[in-house]
Amino acid sequence: MPLDLTPLRRRFPGRTIVWFESAGSTMTEAARLAGEGCPSGTLVLAEEQTAGLGRLGRSWHSEKEAGLYASVVLRLPLAPDGLPVVALALGLAVQEAIQHCTGVICDLRWPNDVLVGGRKCAGILVQLQDGALIAGIGINVNHAAFPAELAGIATSLRMVSGGAHAREHLLVNLLEAVDVFTKILVEDGREQILNLYSRASSYVRGRRVQVDQGSSSLAGTTEGLDPSGFLIVRSDSGARQVILAGGVRPI
Ligand code: BTN
Repeated sequence: MPLDLTPLRRRFPGRTIVWFESAGSTMTEAARLAGEGCPSGTLVLAEEQTAGLGRLGRSWHSEKEAGLYASVVLRLPLAPDGLPVVALALGLAVQEAIQHCTGVICDLRWPNDVLVGGRKCAGILVQLQDGALIAGIGINVNHAAFPAELAGIATSLRMVSGGAHAREHLLVNLLEAVDVFTKILVEDGREQILNLYSRASSYVRGRRVQVDQGSSSLAGTTEGLDPSGFLIVRSDSGARQVILAGGVRPI
């Protein structure tokens, strides 16, 4: 069944909400609206994406009416070097909304993977467009299975909890949580988000990881976040490396 947007419109009166039965990517639609000057908080939703975008040039599997595929336009009063922490704040928001609505407790893998039992149930993609942030959030809610190439690394809230979940309820909680955590970032500062993220993620400290950075890769142990929100890894050769981007995997 398609999303019933009534609860969302009731909870967020005045918010611009754009819904597509099918879209290439909500990121593209939200970027277009941001370029046209849409207000902060504008939400773009799709029931399916035919060209869903993931991090690092990957695609995002977007089965029709099974997940939440959302992009939110955010115009936040942040210095440019505060932007990496936005992705961490969004991870906290997704983790909080999922736990509140479904009881499923997720881990966070820097910079913005949301995991259950080591498999990904949600992902976040942040892009900049004409001075606005486009926060893309994909949550695997009611998928019963995944294509073979994703089966070992992806999961859904239904698969881990054993029952289907109302996407409408999760969506309302997600938007509330995005508002809460971006407000914490803007009003209390990035240290507060870094502290919350460090507590919420098993990956921030003492975790053996492999970091893939395009042509090179690094093995080491995580040692926390730097003040900008980047991951610190002590490589096996003893060097302290600040990871700005890349794919982090457990080893
Ligand atoms: C990742 O973990 O690689 C990030 C995935 C982000 C997926 C969401 S779904 C809604 C929005 N539209 C997209 O095309 N991508 C993001």
